[in-house]
Formats: sequence, C-alpha cells, structure tokens
Amino acid sequence: MIIERSNMTSLKQLQEQMPTSFAEVPDIGELKQFMSYYQLCHQAVNEVSTRLENLDEDYSTRFDHNPIHHLETRMKNPGSLAKKMEKKHLTFSTQAIRNHIYDIGGVRVVTNYVKDIYTVAENLTNQADVQLIKKKDYVQQPKQSGYRSLHLVVSIPVYQSNGVRHAPVEIQIRTIGMDIWASLEHKLRYKTNSSSTDLAPVSAELTHYADELADIEEHMQVIFTKLSSLD
Ligand code: GTP
Ligand code: MG
Repeated sequence: MIIERSNMTSLKQLQEQMPTSFAEVPDIGELKQFMSYYQLCHQAVNEVSTRLENLDEDYSTRFDHNPIHHLETRMKNPGSLAKKMEKKHLTFSTQAIRNHIYDIGGVRVVTNYVKDIYTVAENLTNQADVQLIKKKDYVQQPKQSGYRSLHLVVSIPVYQSNGVRHAPVEIQIRTIGMDIWASLEHKLRYKTNSSSTDLAPVSAELTHYADELADIEEHMQVIFTKLSSLD
C-alpha cells in the first residue's frame, strides 16, 4: 500500500494564500492560532493514515487480503478554506473553523472491493478513542449523478508536547472503480467553458456507467468471496 502525504504549509505561505477579498484581514495573533489548529489537523491526518496502514497490514496477515489499495491525504488549501468560510457567511476565526469546518484534513481510502469499504470504516470507528462525528453513505444511497463513496468525519486524539488535542478528519472511502468514476466526473464539473448542451449527454453517459460499475463490482465481490472460501 502506498500513502501519498501532502506537505505542511508555513505561516508565511498561509498569509500569502489568504484571499485579499476578506473584509477583515485576520491579525497575526489570529493567524498564529489558526496555524496551530491547521498543524493539529495535519497531525490528525497523519494519525488516521498510520492507523489505516496498520489495520491494512494486520488484516493482510490475518486474512491474506489487503482491503486498502492505496491512501491519499490532502490538507485543504487555506485559500479554499477562506472561500468556504465566506460562502457560509462566517468570519475567519479559528473558533468558527473549529465549529463549522470538518474537512481541513482529508484522507481518501481506495479499496479493492465494496465490502472492504465497510471493513475499513468499521475497524477504524471501532477504535475506542475515535469518535464518529458524521457519516454519509453514498454507496448505499448514491447521489443523483451516480457518485458513490462512504464519507466519514472522525475526531481523533493527537498527542502533542503539552498534552492531547482532538481534531476532525474527513475520510472518503471508495473502491478503485468508484475512484476512477469520481475523478472523471470531477473533470466534467470543471468544464465550465463548454455549453451545457455539449455536456448533458456526457453527464448522462457517466450516470449510466455508474450503475454499470455498481453492477460489475457486485459480481466481482461475489467471485472474490467464492474464491476466498476455496482456499
Ligand atoms: P462540503 O464539505 O461543504 O462540500 O459539504 P459536505 O462535506 O457535507 O459534502 P459531501 O460529504 O457530500 O462531499 C464532500 C466531498 O466529497 C466533496 O468535496 C467532493 O470531494 C466529494 N464529492 C461529493 N459529491 C461528489 C460528486 O457528486 N462528485 C464527485 N466527483 N465528488 C463528490
Ligand atoms: Mg467537504
């Protein structure tokens, strides 16, 4: 399994990424507080990745199967965070971010099979110090577009030099097939220069293939389970 980790931003980079459109530019004290929270979120992402990596290794030793194909991590760019705050009509303060934004740190878990999605989710959320804050199951209830993925927000403890602090991490869990589909559909969403008449058939085709993919994945799961029982 490969983990792609993103690098931490420095205070200088943070200041540079702040949008100039802000009515009130956060002062240095506020920025420092934000930096500390941002770093905490980054550590929370590292913590979640390590736990997932350990779970995958453990599972592979016990059952000779790796549920996780690969992991990707990302930190929300402070510029996009600020835009999200503006959209939600919130002023840029660490307190407001803590209360309203749960996806500063993100982990995407790409699994081999559909069943693996729930194995990974269960194994992580069953850990005594992991608190499930939000869950959206777009695998059981796909979005109208055809998007499928299991979304969790968990709060996880991070041990720092002066004690323990908790931070949220948004986790998207999906199969390789769902991941390829989501990347393609994401591309379509950003084709804002093309007319909707040009894009509508592509969009419909993608929705159709989401259903086909779900069907194929179900069959693949059955074959995999059958073959595993023969070992
Ligand atoms: P926001 O974080 O404000 O977007 O709200 P939310 O967290 O309640 O939204 P949700 O859990 O539905 O989606 C969070 C993330 O999942 C998005 O930022 C996308 O990365 C991804 N996502 C959700 N819906 C879609 C979709 O239809 N297509 C694709 N490609 N990605 C999606
Ligand atoms: Mg989000």
